[in-house]
Amino acid sequence: MSSPTEPKIASSLQEGYQHQHTPPNILLAVTGSVAAIKCPEIAVRLVKECKANVKVLLSQGGKNFWDKSKGYNEEYWDLLLEEVNNSESVSIIHADDEWKEWNQLGDPVLHIDLRDWADLMLVAPLSAHTLAKLAHGFCDDTVSCVVRAWDFGHGIRPGKPLLLAPAMNTAMWQHPLTLQQLDTICGFWNFQGDSRNGIQIVEPQEKKLACGEIGNGALASVDVIIDAVRTRFNMKDI
Ligand SMILES: Cc1cc2nc3c(=O)[nH]c(=O)nc-3n(C[C@H](O)[C@H](O)[C@H](O)COP(=O)(O)O)c2cc1C
Repeated sequence: MSSPTEPKIASSLQEGYQHQHTPPNILLAVTGSVAAIKCPEIAVRLVKECKANVKVLLSQGGKNFWDKSKGYNEEYWDLLLEEVNNSESVSIIHADDEWKEWNQLGDPVLHIDLRDWADLMLVAPLSAHTLAKLAHGFCDDTVSCVVRAWDFGHGIRPGKPLLLAPAMNTAMWQHPLTLQQLDTICGFWNFQGDSRNGIQIVEPQEKKLACGEIGNGALASVDVIIDAVRTRFNMKDI
């Protein structure tokens, strides 16, 4: 249960979104929280438990921690490399790949291609910095550009789910800006007209944080995150 000082978050979640691709395409955006070291496990379990194709998109901050994740959980790191090398179900995209692909008009625009490719976007972990950017519409990297260009069902294009899993120090989590920004995001993307549209905040958990403090703000467990995706795709009983 959240304490009175904890952000209480609205959500526009609708269950049972019908993905356009089979298997579903999941864009896993990894931003600069220390919890990014859990992302190889998240990516592998999305492939195995949601039978999904996964593109891992690293922000500049996310990459700092991604590079350390091998030492944190070698088993999932090796499983991930196996998927990357032996199947086409997982690929890794780095923050500066966008500019390597684009040289002239007519070249692919990575953030738009990723938006179109994905049936669902999961930002896990969502750093305080990226949260602030998303709430205010800033889009200075590929992760924030994909979200800024995301389909929420507010035009002629059908909406697609966006799941955000914040992870940060307790003081950051309890800062008034955090709630304001999450409410802003849920509020202006909560269009009632399209049942496929929706944002879900996968709330953080209380535990001993990487900095040694005990409090709320740790990334939700991988089980909870996978469960949220499976619920979204109506895979609960499969
Ligand atoms: C060791 C270390 C741990 C950090 N952990 C977090 C964290 O858990 N959550 C968070 O929001 N920011 C954390 N930060 C700060 C972010 O990494 C920083 O704001 C970064 O610019 C965010 O990058 P982004 O553009 O990917 O959001 C941490 C920084 C360091 C150096």
